[in-house]
Amino acid sequence: MEPIRTVELFAGVGGFRLGLEAASDRFKVVWANQWEPSMQEQYAFDCYTAHFGNDRSQVCQDIAKVKGSIPDHDLLVGGFPCQDYSIMKKNSAGIEGPKGALWWQIDDILREKRPRYLLLENVDRILRSPAKQCGRDFSMILRCLYDKGYAVEWRVINAAEYGNAQRRRRTFILAYHSVTKRFRDLAEGVCSKWLKFMHKYLLEGSILAKAFPIKSHGTDYSKFWIDEMVYSDVQDLSVRQKVFLYNAGLMMNGLVYSIDVHPQMESPIALRDILEDGRVDEHFFLRKADMPSWRYAKGAKREQRIRLNGEKYWFTEGVVEFPEPLDRPARTILTSETQVGRTSHVVADPQTGRLRTLTPVECERLNGFPDGWTDTGMPEKMRYFCMGNALVVPLVTRIGEGLIADL
Ligand SMILES: C[S@@+](CC[C@H](N)C(=O)[O-])C[C@H]1O[C@@H](n2cnc3c(N)ncnc32)[C@H](O)[C@@H]1O
Repeated sequence: MEPIRTVELFAGVGGFRLGLEAASDRFKVVWANQWEPSMQEQYAFDCYTAHFGNDRSQVCQDIAKVKGSIPDHDLLVGGFPCQDYSIMKKNSAGIEGPKGALWWQIDDILREKRPRYLLLENVDRILRSPAKQCGRDFSMILRCLYDKGYAVEWRVINAAEYGNAQRRRRTFILAYHSVTKRFRDLAEGVCSKWLKFMHKYLLEGSILAKAFPIKSHGTDYSKFWIDEMVYSDVQDLSVRQKVFLYNAGLMMNGLVYSIDVHPQMESPIALRDILEDGRVDEHFFLRKADMPSWRYAKGAKREQRIRLNGEKYWFTEGVVEFPEPLDRPARTILTSETQVGRTSHVVADPQTGRLRTLTPVECERLNGFPDGWTDTGMPEKMRYFCMGNALVVPLVTRIGEGLIADL
């Protein structure tokens, strides 16, 4: 069996690679890139190489500087950084966009390398971004992929709904090039039966629908063209496009169809089931001195605050369960996990009943990584940071199995 030469961008601690290698040993990562711009130390890269070896195919530099050395490959994967989609704005340099806008790095690599498949992961709000021009950024991505000869399917997946221990919603974007059989079959169906075919494909036939079965769908949908008949180029689209995109969609030959789908739910894993069995170290337990801050952070509020411009406004937010319910999957883990704040998880320790934060191993379990995966010499707070950045590995395994079946 031929290997599937895979390139992993924005590799973090290797969630994509772990997930794909669990799906099949045909996935061979031939080049990987990870570089954390905000830090001197490169803990995620060190973790990656601790597990996958350190040779010249693992590169710790800004992708903008090293993309020219990427070898030929069949599959490009990556969870590209996503904090700010205003970076998608074009500057006077036109379609190349400003430096640091990481989608444009991927776009450049696709233009140069044309891998047969592309698998990306991002936050769910990528479909709505930017707030004042809903759907523009994702439409730009679709148009870039259309221009390079790809068909695209996407799904927002909540990991807990497909048998995992974390309610983490992420958009998976899968594209296949016109040289693939899947593209040709899809093109033929869309040509002869149009939306009817796209609808059925989205619900049953797509790789993502097979990996994450769908129970039903809503009645609203969006349908629009992003091709050159409507927008002369990406720049034109970026100015005029505004559209609501649902949690599942498909783009073929410039035609986009998107609907709201409801998952065929699988039994979730409860937070209780991933907690460590034995005694955990004392430093995980909440300190008495921090209790007022924890209570304040988790509590409901209505208070007057002042904007930078001096304007006063009422800030309100509801209560967060404190401690976390153990009979449900966890909320999403963020890079700030365990810092005193609303989003950090606090659990009643099953052994002692005392309140504590999650351990790094528990965060690894929530993402489906093996225990101790990030225990490669980095400070403890970086282990949480890396898990806040990472993805839910078993989801990638499912998509990988779908790809293998397709190939
Ligand atoms: C969302 S995380 C992906 C995490 C990964 N999927 C995992 O399982 O750990 C994005 C990663 O891109 C890296 N990154 C950010 N800017 C980069 C750049 N210019 N070049 C290369 N990597 C970059 C970050 O350090 C971060 O680890």
